[in-house]
Amino acid sequence: MDVDIGNALATVASPGISRDALERLDEDVARAHERIEAGRADAEHGYEALNLPSRTDPDEIYRAVDRPEIADADALVTIGIGGSALGAATIADALSGAGAEVGVGAGSEVGADTADDGTQTVFLDNVDPEWITGHLETLPLENTAINVVSRSGTTAETLANFLVVREAFEDAGVDWTERTIVTTGEAGPLRELSDRHGLPALQVPDGVPGRFSALSPVGLVAAAVCGHDLEALLAGASAEAETLTGSLFECPAYAYGATTHALAARGASVNAMMPYAESLETYAEWFAQLWAESLGKDDLGQTPVRALGATDQHSQLQLYRAGPRNTLVSFVTPRERDDRAIPATDVDDLAYLGDASLGELLQAEFEATEASLAAAGRPNVRIELERVDAFELGGLLYGMEAACVLAGELAGVNAFNQPAVEWAKKATRGLLGGTDADGNRLEEADAVAE
Ligand code: PA5
Repeated sequence: MDVDIGNALATVASPGISRDALERLDEDVARAHERIEAGRADAEHGYEALNLPSRTDPDEIYRAVDRPEIADADALVTIGIGGSALGAATIADALSGAGAEVGVGAGSEVGADTADDGTQTVFLDNVDPEWITGHLETLPLENTAINVVSRSGTTAETLANFLVVREAFEDAGVDWTERTIVTTGEAGPLRELSDRHGLPALQVPDGVPGRFSALSPVGLVAAAVCGHDLEALLAGASAEAETLTGSLFECPAYAYGATTHALAARGASVNAMMPYAESLETYAEWFAQLWAESLGKDDLGQTPVRALGATDQHSQLQLYRAGPRNTLVSFVTPRERDDRAIPATDVDDLAYLGDASLGELLQAEFEATEASLAAAGRPNVRIELERVDAFELGGLLYGMEAACVLAGELAGVNAFNQPAVEWAKKATRGLLGGTDADGNRLEEADAVAE
């Protein structure tokens, strides 16, 4: 990926960062890079995620899904939430081909899609009973595979949905045990369940937090079932890893991480991630989790907003150009895409469209939006991909993770924990009368006291 921060400079935008300030910041980037490299070398918790491109073994994943009930399924239901769902959904949506959305998940919500090889992919993260029932009533259960993902193996939403889905298969007389694959930690209730039923089980690598795990089995099992190219995803990520040098002037990921950090310090408390590709809509959701859960600590952080070009030019753009000066707009745009001509018409006022294609129109929309923000002195950054394919997507996911790790280092926050999320998980279990890892009953008061 390439990153252009020209429209975030103080000469163009307010808030903006001056060239001098960037040069001073680059010294901090160099120090942060040393810490990141040391963390990677020692496989420290969190930093280990940046080693995934060379650690993940695609063959292990291909082997695990290589049984007819899973590999040849017409539909794949992935059950997971947060970091155990959004990476897989991003990859599935980005690589499934334009216009493939089917079912209730349209929009930025994790829902349903159709993969390259025709597999219908459904991501069940929420526990809304009407939504779950709607899916279970329409899925072809006798030809559906189940992919359950939970690092901890204890997350209430994931385990509850798995139990509900399992029961639906049993009620339909379909053996779920021969069509289920699990990805979880070394121990825990989900591991116990998979051992009990002899299910194929992959392990979430040690030291990799949920939202940094897209390039591990957590994100790649669904991609493998759908016939996507895992090697290309990992090769793209490896190529991005090669660019991690100690300077923001040389490394696109660090340019993005350092610029967002500098702008946040100067008042850009909102970061609107706005891809100009329908297939990257779920990516904006993945980014929002990465940014919010990793950097929202110690009264610091930047609020991520999910936007989509050109759709949100007709809604959010008004705010970003003329509202409070608190927003950085981050564009992601491919240089190439499969295109479609706009038919000519003899209506005079529409003649200009007949000379163009939808791709050219979308590109014009993007350039106009970028220019309009710059003209209004509003900071924006352009992240460019060659096109939306497995290689470029691997690079984008890795690059944004590296940017996030750098932003955490620069802000002095631990990007790899999520105490607020854990607090809510524990409170939920407590309210339902659950127990902790030692079997002690969790009272609501215990959770609240934490
Ligand atoms: O990034 C994270 O750590 C979280 O979003 C988790 O991925 C999410 O809470 C799900 O946790 P688990 O994989 O343990 O079910």
